[in-house]
Amino acid sequence: MATHDAPTSSGPYSDAHARSLTDREGFWLDAARAIDWTVAPTRALDDTDAPLYRWFPDGVLNTAHNCLDRHVEAGRGDAPALVHDSAMTGEVTRFTYAQLRDEVAALAGALAARGVGKGDRVLVYLPMIPQAPIAMLACARLGAVHSVVFGGFAPRELAARIDDATPDVVLTCTGGIEPKRRVEYLPAVAEALETASHPVRTVLVHAREGFETALADVSARGGAAWEDWDAAVADAEPAACVDVAATDPLYVLYTSGTTGKPKGVVRDNGGHAVALRWTMENIYDVGPGQAMCTASDVGWVVGHSYIVYGPLLAGATTVMYEGKPVGTPDAGAFWRLVEDHGVRSFFTAPTALRAIRKADPEGELLRAHDLSSLKHFFAAGERLDPETQRWIEGLLEMPVIDHWWQTETGWAIAANPVGLQELPVKIGSASVPSPGFDLVVLDGLGEEVPAGTEGNIAVRLPLPPGTLPTLWGADQRYVDSYLSAFPGHYATGDSGVVDEDGYVFVLGRTDDVINVSGHRLSTGVLEAALAAHPAVAECAVIGVADQLKGQRPSGYVVLTSGVEVPEPGSDAETELLDALRQAVRREVGPVADFRDVTVVDALPKTRSGKILRKTMRQMADGEDYTVPSTIEDASVLEQLQPLLRPGR
Ligand code: COA
Ligand code: AMP
Repeated sequence: MATHDAPTSSGPYSDAHARSLTDREGFWLDAARAIDWTVAPTRALDDTDAPLYRWFPDGVLNTAHNCLDRHVEAGRGDAPALVHDSAMTGEVTRFTYAQLRDEVAALAGALAARGVGKGDRVLVYLPMIPQAPIAMLACARLGAVHSVVFGGFAPRELAARIDDATPDVVLTCTGGIEPKRRVEYLPAVAEALETASHPVRTVLVHAREGFETALADVSARGGAAWEDWDAAVADAEPAACVDVAATDPLYVLYTSGTTGKPKGVVRDNGGHAVALRWTMENIYDVGPGQAMCTASDVGWVVGHSYIVYGPLLAGATTVMYEGKPVGTPDAGAFWRLVEDHGVRSFFTAPTALRAIRKADPEGELLRAHDLSSLKHFFAAGERLDPETQRWIEGLLEMPVIDHWWQTETGWAIAANPVGLQELPVKIGSASVPSPGFDLVVLDGLGEEVPAGTEGNIAVRLPLPPGTLPTLWGADQRYVDSYLSAFPGHYATGDSGVVDEDGYVFVLGRTDDVINVSGHRLSTGVLEAALAAHPAVAECAVIGVADQLKGQRPSGYVVLTSGVEVPEPGSDAETELLDALRQAVRREVGPVADFRDVTVVDALPKTRSGKILRKTMRQMADGEDYTVPSTIEDASVLEQLQPLLRPGR
């Protein structure tokens, strides 16, 4: 059973954490020895352009070589690299390291034949099929920069990413499979190409069976050359790994910020390889011959790091799951994966655990499987609520580790480093700061608060390797968004508490970012979709607590003058609200899961016109709140109160 005693203040973890801050060069150059370099770095940190930092400035390597070729060259070509298990098709596909390397080299050859080289961008829009990691690694092989877009986003969001990353090639397939429907990718890609200003040269389409729209139906659209992926690969000469500087970008991954424009988080090659390799051993406790299953999506950072790069850098087996935690076919899906593939470390989002608990509260489906291979269970993406944590710990009879992450950091800011030293679990805490992260909690003025006091969680610069060096093509935006609020620190955007034992409790965002089923969304983007509807004069979207999804977006709209406010419960109201829901689905995508929308007379604002979203959320969640003294008209808030009740 999990222990919940006070942690030890000395031992391998505290030694490693202390050394990572006091002997940064030594700590990270030691970690870098686990990577195969063409030119080994002699320096760890380059701070000449602070507050922009670079890691391993004189190192040269190739990330795909480290993920694949080096293991084959070391005689492990027959070892399992990737197991793809699809609950949607019932198929299991296995790739050894040699097979995966050959697939990757062939696709890299096809990309090279289409002019893709070092530094060029390739957009990847694929569901959870083996082609997704193959696409990412093929880009890495060429030194090209991939940008993966999650399949649940709408064409407009795809277009925004095309315009920012300016890719030459898009890699996609005919579609993804959701439990209730087939998601046709090609019309979405075609619409995105037509919406974007940047011209994409080539679209390679992997033909997946069972979809209505085929290559021929879209090939005249968007000004690109649309080609069949498999034919292109069949004709290609396998490509060799291209040397890149450690500081060269490996990928750009877009994430939601406060504004409507997504932020292109950049990941470099060298720092990323070193950091992830270190985490595999020290946090996840997974190495060669052992299997890790991360039930996320390649479209999110967790998928990038621990479906694709981390396990392969470690020479382990990654189990990639296409399916849901429940309903495909039942809430035993994760436990089946553990049994079938001998999974040692499993990683998922709390929302998935809540869904499983709802369907199988007594754990009957869990007990029906042999989980003897399972040694560690991790959760991230949102806070693991204590009730769910206790429930799953009780069933698994092992500590369940909550760890705290961001797209920006690429790996856990706080975690229980079980491979290094298993620390006691504190329920409700994301454990302790990871080595390399010098965490502080600051008040609004940037002063450190005492242990146990809530504040803004920040990290003293520099951030460790593997974290974002900047935003794509936007150094100043990076500085403005993250480094300006508390000079000398990276502002995480999360608030929380660090207790006397150094355990971190993350309590929520300090900005307008919400987290729906572990998916990070900007309320600004949702509001923009609502505001574009002609009947809407102004609106506010807040994230209200939801028992299953952590938060759900809830919209409040004020109608344009002249538009009649429909009677509550009338057909006219249903029609209007449906149109607003559809607007969000069309503009942002089904991933927003936008269902709650209410027509109101007015929105509460400060005298300077800022909508009081935080107060609205506190009221909706039934929390204590104080009405800001700057409120323009307190009666608006009073009128809104009955509409903001929790559980609506
Ligand atoms: N492509 C297209 N559409 C997608 C999609 C994808 N990759 N993923 C989700 N969607 C759609 C769903 O089909 C659904 O559409 P619908 O409105 O037509 O039904 C909508 O987006 C919302 O989906 P989802 O968030 O999956 O909600 P759900 O109610 O269908 O399922 C859970 C609930 C808990 C099972 C599900 O949210 C889940 O598996 N969450 C875990 C998320 C996760 O792993 N996050 C990782 C972050 S580290
Ligand atoms: P993303 O960039 O999509 O990974 O989302 C990052 C955000 O999710 C963080 O800033 C947190 O708000 C939230 N988050 C992720 N993991 C956790 C966790 N373990 N506990 C609390 N919040 C989390």
